[in-house]
Amino acid sequence: MTGTAQEHQSVATSRRIEPFAASVWPWVDQMAERNPAAVFFGGGVPPTDVIPVERLREGANRAWDDGASTLLYGEVRGYRPLRDLIAERMAARGAAVDTADILITNGAQQGIDLAARIFIDPGDIVLTEAPTFMDALRVFRSHEAEPIGVPVDEDGLQVDALATLLDRLPRRPKFLYTVPTYQNPMGVCLSSERRRALVDLARERGLVIVEDDPYGELSYDGDPLPTLKSLDPEVVFLGTFSKVLAPGLRVGWVASSPQLREAFFNVKEGTDIHNERIMTRTVYHTAHGFLDQHVNTTREIYRRRRDAMVRGLEREMPAAVSWTTPHGGFFLWVTLPEGYDTDAMLPDATDRGVIFLPSSWFYPDRSWTRSMRLNFSSQPEERITEAMSRLAETIRAY
Ligand SMILES: Cc1ncc(COP(=O)(O)O)c(C=O)c1O
Repeated sequence: MTGTAQEHQSVATSRRIEPFAASVWPWVDQMAERNPAAVFFGGGVPPTDVIPVERLREGANRAWDDGASTLLYGEVRGYRPLRDLIAERMAARGAAVDTADILITNGAQQGIDLAARIFIDPGDIVLTEAPTFMDALRVFRSHEAEPIGVPVDEDGLQVDALATLLDRLPRRPKFLYTVPTYQNPMGVCLSSERRRALVDLARERGLVIVEDDPYGELSYDGDPLPTLKSLDPEVVFLGTFSKVLAPGLRVGWVASSPQLREAFFNVKEGTDIHNERIMTRTVYHTAHGFLDQHVNTTREIYRRRRDAMVRGLEREMPAAVSWTTPHGGFFLWVTLPEGYDTDAMLPDATDRGVIFLPSSWFYPDRSWTRSMRLNFSSQPEERITEAMSRLAETIRAY
């Protein structure tokens, strides 16, 4: 018999989609539904009351200035004035980038995917930090790469450990994906000595560096360190307006190099032709003459929230618990003593009123289970303070 309901259900999908199913988000959403009153530390976005809606509305109005021609296909690399503005902002962080090497993308996430398409053949090794941004792991796996983690401490990626690993690997890795500045998930920053050492090691071993930098401008204790891109123009740099303006805009960029410029252009064009032209103009008109001031205002807000979280942890946590103290970005990383499992703890924490992201999801091999990522940008100080005592209560009870 043919055409049964059963047969219709077994659609032959590719194995490349399987890694996308491995996501913490459906589970975290369930937790938020289980206790809608719980303080949510799971996200990584600017809070809605910080997003400059009026300025964006004015920017959106001006985006229509060029009329219907803006609604045709065009500008695969992205709106030129926006690319110039990005080049200026990157120069302020030490990197001289040719506007021709800047390609506007649908967020840094698309930059990660384009880099994966350009470099990865099935079976390739890709190096990441351990822990790293979990949605990058899903992309690398979907391209059938094997992600291998390099350990991270308070000063960022351990470059010595990377050198040892490179000696041991059976094949040369296609690239190193790194978030050196106010890292997701630990909030740590690669020290200047290690930045230099990393760039030198990568050059020596022919290792491509993909530098993802969504949080670099959000520094709370002085200026951020120069980007890796500023130390080596061959670094592939991924940027975004998601954290300094708003993630729903879906505007980010890749700054590559003359050698890779065409590859990024071709793959972007072949994938989704180009970004929305109205939105890239909106971001330009919003950011021009405004973004520095806006970033300064938000730094103040986030600094106070970071301080509230660190003070709360100091006051409430049992002695054996430790955490990172980030100088920027959105996250800090709390580590519990041996024997704890933050995946197993999450439902109980939710019932007691706190939602965090368990550490295992951030590791290529899911091996580390006793830390958690806490986002401090999206909750007011009073909520953070109150939630730290609930979190401590959960840890004591567990
Ligand atoms: C390290 C890192 N890279 C990329 C992204 C995705 O950013 P975008 O919204 O620009 O795609 C995020 C968002 O959380 C992130 O933390």
